[in-house]
Formats: sequence, C-alpha cells, structure tokens
Amino acid sequence: MKKTKSTIVILLFIVAYFLIFINILPPKSRWVFPEVKLVLQPVPAVLTSQQSITPLTNTKHFLVSAFMDQRRTGFDARIIGIFRRDSIHPLHCIFFCAGFFSKTTSASVLVHSDHFGFPFGATDVLCRIPESCNATHVTLLTKQNPVNISDQLWLPIRNRKTHNKETRLNFTVCISTLFGDYNNVLQFTQSLEMYKLLGVNRVVIYNTNCGPDLDRLLKSYSQEGFVEIVPWPINQYLNPSRGWNFKEHGGDLHYFGQIITLNDCIYRSMERSRYVLLNDIDEIIMPYQHDNLNSMMDMLQSQHSNVAEFLIENHIFSKKHFEPSGRFHLPRWNKVPGVNILEHIYREDPDRNFYHPLKIIVQPRLVEQTSVHEVLKKFGQRFKVPMGVCRIIYIRVALRGSLKLEQLHEDKRLWDFQEKLIPNVDKALRRAGLLREEEEQS
Ligand SMILES: *[C@@H]1O[C@H](CO)[C@@H](O)[C@H](O)[C@H]1NC(C)=O
Ligand SMILES: *[C@@H]1O[C@H](CO)[C@@H](O)[C@H](O)[C@H]1NC(C)=O
Ligand SMILES: *[C@@H]1O[C@H](CO)[C@@H](O)[C@H](O)[C@H]1NC(C)=O
Repeated sequence: MKKTKSTIVILLFIVAYFLIFINILPPKSRWVFPEVKLVLQPVPAVLTSQQSITPLTNTKHFLVSAFMDQRRTGFDARIIGIFRRDSIHPLHCIFFCAGFFSKTTSASVLVHSDHFGFPFGATDVLCRIPESCNATHVTLLTKQNPVNISDQLWLPIRNRKTHNKETRLNFTVCISTLFGDYNNVLQFTQSLEMYKLLGVNRVVIYNTNCGPDLDRLLKSYSQEGFVEIVPWPINQYLNPSRGWNFKEHGGDLHYFGQIITLNDCIYRSMERSRYVLLNDIDEIIMPYQHDNLNSMMDMLQSQHSNVAEFLIENHIFSKKHFEPSGRFHLPRWNKVPGVNILEHIYREDPDRNFYHPLKIIVQPRLVEQTSVHEVLKKFGQRFKVPMGVCRIIYIRVALRGSLKLEQLHEDKRLWDFQEKLIPNVDKALRRAGLLREEEEQS
C-alpha cells in the first residue's frame, strides 16, 4: 500500500517535470509569483458601432446616439435617429446588460415636428430598460423575437451615472454641420478666441467636410481640447439638402441634418455642461453689460429662475462696410483666408415687420427636444433676453443691403476685447501653421 503511494508521487513528479519541459506548466520560479492574469470578458460581446451615423438593419432609418434619460416616467433610455418618415413600423428595444442580452421592450418612435417636409427627419426613440439590467448598450429590432441578432450594431449608452468622471463645463457651444469647402479661417479663429474670452469651455463641431486650412485649424484646436470634432459623413448615406425647405431646395434631409446634430449635442453636454449655446460659427453671443457669459447668466438666472431657454436676438453687421481708420487691418493676416471681424462695426436694425430669427442659450438638463431657433419640448420656461443685455454679433453679407451707411449703427463692442483677442488669434494661427513668422515681420 505504502509502496503504491510513493510510486504515484514519483509518477506525478515525472509528469509535472515533463509538462514544464514542454512549456505547459510554468517553471517552479513562476509558481510563486504568477504573472498570468485572469481576464474576465463579458460573454457574449456586442459589435459596437464606431460611426456617428449607423444604418439600422432591415430598415431605411439611421441611428446616431443613445443616452440614459429618466426625466419622463415610463422611459429610461433615448435614442436619437434619422428616420424615413413614410416608413415607420413597430420597433423593439434590446439592451446589453453588462454580460447578457435583455428581453425586448417596445419602442416609442417620435418624429420631431420640424422636418420641413423632407422625407427624413430627426427622431427620438424612447425605451424602457427591463428590471435588473445594468444596460451598457442598446439597439433596435424589427421583430420581437429575432432568430439571430449577431450581426446587429449596438450603440453605447451615454450619460450613465457610473460614467460621469468628466470635468464640469460652464458653457458649450454647439456648431452644427460644416460642409462644402468652407475655409473662412480668420473669422473662425477670431470667433473661437472670442468664445474663450467670454468663458466658453468647449465647442462641439459636426464636420461633414471643410476647406484645407480650416481642417488644419480644427485639428489643432481639437488636439488642444477646446474643440470636439464629431465626424458627420451624412452625404455618404443620404442626399442632404443645403437648404431648409423641401419644396424649394429638394433633397432627403433639412440642412445636412442640422436638427439632429443640435439635439445630439445637447444630450452629449447634458451631464457635463451648465449651459449650451446653439449658434453658428460666424455668430458671437455677446454680453453688452457684463465681461463674460458667466456673470451675465448668473444675473439672468437670479432674476428668472427655472428658465430652460434664453432667446437671443441676432444682429447683422454687413461685411461690405469697413471701419474707416484701418487700425485692425493687420498685414500679417493678409494671407489668412477669411473675414476680419474687427474691421466691421456697422450694425443693421432688424426689419421687425418680418420674422426675425433668434438663437438660444439653454440649460441642457431642462431640454427634451430642440429646433434651430427655439426649443420644441422642455421642462422649464422661456425668456427673451433684452438686446441691451445680450445680442448676437453676426458679420456676414448684409441682410438689408439697401440700407445706406448712415442708416446703420456703429457698434465697436468687439474692440473692447482686442487687446487679448489679437495675440490669442496670432497664437492659434501660428500653432496651426497658418501664420508664418516671415509674414509677421512685414
Ligand atoms: C454596471 O456595469 C458597469 C460596467 O459595465 C459597472 O461599472 C457598474 O458597477 C455596474 N453597476 C451595477 C449597479 O451593477
Ligand atoms: C447569425 O448571423 C451571423 C452573421 O450574419 C452568422 O455568421 C451566423 O452563422 C448566424 N447564426 C445562426 C445561428 O444563424
Ligand atoms: C465655471 O464658472 C465658475 C464660477 O464662475 C468658475 O469658478 C469655474 O472655474 C468655471 N469652470 C470652468 C471649467 O471654466
């Protein structure tokens, strides 16, 4: 009996030695400090969409992003999509719950009212997350019990409570859809640097395409962290319109999908930014009684609590009229493409007989659905900010071109910032390689 035991022990030693020899077991030195790490992977894994526009399998629709949103009772998650309005059929939400798939729940599909007659429109899909599912990803199915979901693309769910380590921002500017060969570098740089001086912390830009110099500038700002570029290849999926009205301009979708990008931007800013400004890149939301947006909003908020949406009047400065002294006509900027905003100080009065578009500052947490010039669904009030407190400086082609110079108002508000603005613009241009030193000497 004793003999058999010791034979077994000896045999085990021989086997172990043999296994070490053929490299199946680690040598004894590594048994003490094992380096082999146990990797726990959720099984099964899902195929996460890597794009900002994801075609939805077996439909004509596209998904853009998904967010946790429990502000309305009965729903937990919201998907923002681009849906073909004449092709809406029942859909089912399915979640990936940190390791397993949930059962499906029915999807509530709500096309936004401002589609301007285009075949495709911004669409919200609201879903309920089943009990005891710690949802990390979501997708939509056309059948409640599909045979095979392994080729489905999934959206990560943003704004989850566990996911909230980003720094707090005060102001985010959302710039929808750059397209064409827009290359107005000087005005773009000046606007971004003005935003910084006014207290803006982040600018989110949806980029379909733009000119080569602007592309360089954007990359440089995005490396620095001030600009967040969201690729927006909408023209690869649809024939987007350059206009706002289907009857007049044709195409599949309003203005390169502007409304979808603005909604996406509000939701991606919801948990990280106190305020969001919805304006175009050549528009500067300018306080006229305060040095920066922070102190202006503190005042407005103390006078008007529970306001979700602050409306700001747009004022046009014709780029045809130049300020006569030429003091800001800097030779080193001659080779930088674009408009120099400091040279234009003549403001049109809006024609108040016609509809006069406004732009908005919102508290993102109080907004559910937005359009371009107003919020569509919100959980708070609206307030129109008096033009003496704040208005938009918008330097562009005159809207009322028949007005004579003496009918325009002189407005040099931008000059109050020139001392800091000019060196900051130079620095940004130089960093992007758009201002060369020898030209600066001239
Ligand atoms: C949910 O899952 C995430 C990661 O997937 C994890 O960090 C978190 O702790 C989970 N929460 C709960 C309540 O289990
Ligand atoms: C499910 O679909 C994938 C990809 O289309 C395919 O590779 C797989 O074999 C299918 N599985 C079943 C069970 O049909
Ligand atoms: C936001 O504003 C507060 C108060 O004005 C300021 O203390 C804080 O530094 C600002 N945060 C950022 C990220 O600029």
